[in-house]
Amino acid sequence: MNKLKVIILAAGEGKRMKSKLPKVLHKVQGKTMVEHVIDTAEGCGAEDICVVVGHGAEQVKEALKDRKVSFALQEKQLGTGHAVMQAGDFIDEDSDILVLYGDTPLITPATIEKLLDFHRSENNSISIISALIDDPAGYGRIIRDKNGSFLKNVEHKDATEEERLVKEVNSGIYCFKGSALKKGLSLLKNDNAQGEYYLPDTLEIILKDGGRVNAMTVADAGEFAGVNSRVQLAQAEVAMRKRINLKHMENGVTMIDPENTYIESDVVIGMDTVLLPGCVLEGKTVIGENCTVGPNSRLTNMKLGNGVKFQYSTGLDSSVDDGTTVGPYAYIRPDCSIGKNVRIGDFVEVKNSNVGDGTKVSHLTYIGDTDAGERINFGCGTVTVNYDGKKKFRTVIGDDVFIGCNTNLVAPVKVGDGSYIAAGSTITEDVPENCLAIARERQTNKSGWVKR
Ligand code: UD1
Ligand code: CA
Repeated sequence: MNKLKVIILAAGEGKRMKSKLPKVLHKVQGKTMVEHVIDTAEGCGAEDICVVVGHGAEQVKEALKDRKVSFALQEKQLGTGHAVMQAGDFIDEDSDILVLYGDTPLITPATIEKLLDFHRSENNSISIISALIDDPAGYGRIIRDKNGSFLKNVEHKDATEEERLVKEVNSGIYCFKGSALKKGLSLLKNDNAQGEYYLPDTLEIILKDGGRVNAMTVADAGEFAGVNSRVQLAQAEVAMRKRINLKHMENGVTMIDPENTYIESDVVIGMDTVLLPGCVLEGKTVIGENCTVGPNSRLTNMKLGNGVKFQYSTGLDSSVDDGTTVGPYAYIRPDCSIGKNVRIGDFVEVKNSNVGDGTKVSHLTYIGDTDAGERINFGCGTVTVNYDGKKKFRTVIGDDVFIGCNTNLVAPVKVGDGSYIAAGSTITEDVPENCLAIARERQTNKSGWVKR
């Protein structure tokens, strides 16, 4: 089998997006469009990927700096054929070269694999994907002879009235034998309505040269829909959301309202987890089994164990272990590690802290820069005072500590295992093990004061 190399065209301007961001860097389900295409290319076994950049080239390269891709620069956008010419050094005679686009994020590995099978089993010089669509305006048309054999592609702007009636369109996705692509490109001309070098003109060129060229017709044109505007971006978002949600449901996740459940591409969810309406699950979030998430919760790069309940809350870049409940209205900020069977209740904020197993933080509490042990009871309104206006300090609390309501723990401070802190205390010094710490003024009652 020939080596598979992929060229992704991403040099176009995307005027209709009305954006300062290069078009291919707009995101669908939390991932840039061009990265969706790179993922698809990798998913069908591409050994090398070359992205042709032009408009916003530096920004696109920067956004892809962690991906295994090379770049070719197309300084002027003189057509799709011209774009591929810029990747000339990348094209080997004896590789299969697949051409994809940075603005068609919905294309799937399954469809590409079908094209590769078609290409290899027919031993074609060029294979393309075509589709029959009701409104073919704008697309290149596939022209066939009386016997239905492929003849050529004609761009809409160059097509005759009769050719414009053809409903079979060019998806723009091709697999070339490297040798055929090289030859086709070398013979391309730009004597057409747009004065551009059209990549699909290579089809007719190679056919006339004695090569085998054929189109694989697919039923669903939706997969190669390009995104040229914000409206199409939103449509791609809906299509991708449906696809992702379907995959999770097939894997055993219950969704009460899939249309109101937003899951980015890389999120992982365990079996028998239930997602209530309004879940926004982002980044590298991983959710275990038997969890209930939502309603109305946002999780970004969160790791949830099994049996976690997370409702009406936000969690960022943190982990929550088995059996813990979060919310309603809790805010877990980055770098928290929350143990098993913990309770993080309403109006609790936790930041850059560790919270041990079985600890209860039921309400109205701020835990920041803290190492809290196991089975602690945080009374309502506890505050770790971690900031003196210049620096942040840590609070360390041992196991089995009982913290009365409205306690301030002024960091840096340590509370030993098993201690009790009286309600309303402002703790500024370390509390040893098994103590009762009282740090508030003793009450005085002034009798008859009101009447006087
Ligand atoms: C292209 C095909 C058409 C097909 C349609 C499917 C050509 C000439 N026509 O038309 O047959 O039906 O796709 O969507 O190929 N690009 C560059 N550099 C360029 C020109 C384009 O990188 O110089 C990129 C664009 O950013 C875009 C893609 O190639 O992502 C397609 O280019 P565009 O000019 O929009 O071609 P279409 O008119 O869509
Ligand atoms: Ca286009």
